[in-house]
Amino acid sequence: MIALEFIRQSMSSDSGAPAGCAMPQELQLSGLPSIRLGINIDHVATLRNARGGRHPDPVHAAEVAIAAGADSITAHLREDRRHIRDDDIERLMERLSKPLNLEMAATREMIDIAVATRPHAACLVPEKREERTTEGGLDVVEHKKELADAVGELTAAGIRVSLFIASDEHQIEAAAAIGAPAIEIHTGAWCDAVTAGEGAPGAVEFARIAAGAEYARRLGLEVHAGHGLDYLTAETIAALPQVVELNIGHFLIGDALTIGLGGAVERMLAAMRRGRAMAKAIA
Ligand code: PXP
Repeated sequence: MIALEFIRQSMSSDSGAPAGCAMPQELQLSGLPSIRLGINIDHVATLRNARGGRHPDPVHAAEVAIAAGADSITAHLREDRRHIRDDDIERLMERLSKPLNLEMAATREMIDIAVATRPHAACLVPEKREERTTEGGLDVVEHKKELADAVGELTAAGIRVSLFIASDEHQIEAAAAIGAPAIEIHTGAWCDAVTAGEGAPGAVEFARIAAGAEYARRLGLEVHAGHGLDYLTAETIAALPQVVELNIGHFLIGDALTIGLGGAVERMLAAMRRGRAMAKAIA
């Protein structure tokens, strides 16, 4: 119901959608393209790195996600290697049965790694050392030349490129102009508004996303979305027929901890009981 409410509000004329971005005419109910789920495993690596060992293994987590139905795996190799590391990317490429989407800054170092590794897809993101996560979208308008070169080089290596951008008509136009086949719309501001219970700003942000998705489709771009999504916001975004891929990490990995904790505790208790039984047998 809440998801539907967002959609209704965003379709109203005073929704605050940016000028020049037409709202979707209708949410088609038939002939919809299917929507894919990409799982971002960065924070499995964050947890592993907190102890410096090998557990939990992000590659194993990726295999579990694929076994559960995920369509692809996303991993962000950051300049500072704070979570995913080079050998994770190599192991993902060796072991995954589904596509790898390499999230990366458009730097010389990362382009060289991508071209050498050849993941199925690359999502270009802005990257700042001091940020906790990817805070905003790329400024494609400002960095048109460098990004056009990066898109060209990655495309020539057979990698499908998407640009992580705000749902802004100028950014969308620039993404199309430099030949990117896909964009990923940054859903972070909307998700923050929903989480904070801010109804009106949330409706404005959602209207912006819906309008941008429609505009991008009209320009021939494939539309993905991601950042900050949880069950409710993913459900809502999945109702936009233009969006064909969601990339979700932090919430899902966090929820997996609580959903999976009971089973892990049961396994640990069973292991301890076996140990006690052995002690009895030895005594
Ligand atoms: N898409 C992109 C481009 C991102 O930078 C991130 C965060 O790494 C995500 C999706 C996933 O966001 P979250 O971890 O908040 O689900």
